Amino acid sequence: MQGKGVVLLCVLPLVLGQDPKTFSWDGPGQTLAPDPINPCLTDQNSCGCCLMQKKKWELEQYINSSMNSLEDLLDKAQNTLKNIRDNRVAFSVGLADKRRCIGPLKTATNLVYQSIFINIGEAYNSSTGVFTVPRSGVYNLAFTVFTDAGSPGAALAVCVSIRRNGVALAALREIYDQDQEDQATAVLLVQLSAGDRITISLQAGCWICDDQNHYNTFSGFLLYATE
Ligand SMILES: *[C@@H]1O[C@H](CO)[C@@H](O)[C@H](O)[C@H]1NC(C)=O
Ligand SMILES: *[C@@H]1O[C@H](CO)[C@@H](O)[C@H](O)[C@H]1NC(C)=O
Repeated sequence: MQGKGVVLLCVLPLVLGQDPKTFSWDGPGQTLAPDPINPCLTDQNSCGCCLMQKKKWELEQYINSSMNSLEDLLDKAQNTLKNIRDNRVAFSVGLADKRRCIGPLKTATNLVYQSIFINIGEAYNSSTGVFTVPRSGVYNLAFTVFTDAGSPGAALAVCVSIRRNGVALAALREIYDQDQEDQATAVLLVQLSAGDRITISLQAGCWICDDQNHYNTFSGFLLYATE
């Protein structure tokens, strides 16, 4: 009987969050007022209960803090993923969908690739032929060029360059009169800054030809962002 009363007194403040001194206990045989901080000092019988309560509270705190840090980590991971998704950049375009030759021209001219395979992030503009870098990072760029001399023995001149803000990064060049057709590819990895304009420029006096087979392509994607 006495044991039960002390146990109750020990649990009550935890449940009600009140000072146990405000509760009176008139049970028979009580000699000492129970100590709410450490009931073990005044009543050995309450030890088990209070220790369990303490352990339970510690466990709950541990679970709570583990859950909180897991939630924080999950939030961060979700943000990073969203950031990556929102900033995806990839384009791949072909020059034309039907038979079309461009050149020879007197001055170097930017090519406008009109057949879109993919344009994630809409950074390639199919009316200007310009890929405008949406965010700074390391990019993979590639282009393939093809031309047809028209007849055997006729002169062949396929020469283009890839340019960053008008300055050549790399070029392909094939001027010959033995083959009727020629094709070449260049692939490069470059660090680009947001706002850079990447174009493919047909050099003066050269020409390229395409059709629905897409012999001429221009592609790029963000390998990783640096800002
Ligand atoms: C654990 O979290 C719950 C829900 O947020 C809260 O009610 C409880 O008081 C917390 N327990 C501890 C020991 O912090
Ligand atoms: C493409 O460029 C043209 C000419 O600068 C511009 O009017 C148009 O809005 C651009 N399109 C996109 C999708 O940015």
